[in-house]
Amino acid sequence: MRIQPSILSADFVNIQAGIESVASADAVHVDVMDNHFVPNLTFGPEMVRRVQAVSPIPLDVHLMITDVDRWAPGYAELGAFSVTFHAEATSDPVGLARTLRSLGARAGLALKPGTDVTPYLELLPEFDQLLVMTVEPGFGGQSFMTELMPKVAAVRSAIDAGSLEVWLQVDGGISTETIGRAAEAGADTFVAGFSVFGASNAAEAIGDLRAAAEAAHSH
Ligand code: DX5
Ligand code: ZN
Repeated sequence: MRIQPSILSADFVNIQAGIESVASADAVHVDVMDNHFVPNLTFGPEMVRRVQAVSPIPLDVHLMITDVDRWAPGYAELGAFSVTFHAEATSDPVGLARTLRSLGARAGLALKPGTDVTPYLELLPEFDQLLVMTVEPGFGGQSFMTELMPKVAAVRSAIDAGSLEVWLQVDGGISTETIGRAAEAGADTFVAGFSVFGASNAAEAIGDLRAAAEAAHSH
């Protein structure tokens, strides 16, 4: 059970302190948005390069951008542990995954809530992570979409059937209230923005999320 706080909900003029406050997490989730793939804008490679330089934990980069073939490899080159791009943003997901892996990063594939997972299940061996979005990508602090749990379960079945070592990540609306549902459906990697950075004690919030996920998983 991996917890990955999203710096989308951190103080953008004090990102370094924000990351240090979540150093007990497994990775820091970095949401790159281009105001084109999603109707919001965050930061690009130069910012992420500095975040990589100061972060005590690995970077899980989530690209909500178009033109991924042009931009994604740069995030692997700057040292990100994992680089996830959207299936909706490329016509060659396997080619890009192979490029990312050859550059030393884990390769992730993300699906918006409305995207059918079925055609992507056979591509799972080409990836290290599959991200099932549990909100419409673009903004933090939205409500968890429980109706996506059958999709999570379908991915879990395919991972287990193939004995694959693919991490199954969920992102959007994860809190101590909702994380159990995602864990029961088969998720093992949880992004949390508002529920960590909106808490009075981020380290405590991470511990609470981890405990809730583990409790649900051992059911
Ligand atoms: C949304 C981003 C998420 C966001 C999650 O498009 O991909 O990573 O930060 O924020 P919360 O946990 O607040 O829903
Ligand atoms: Zn994200």
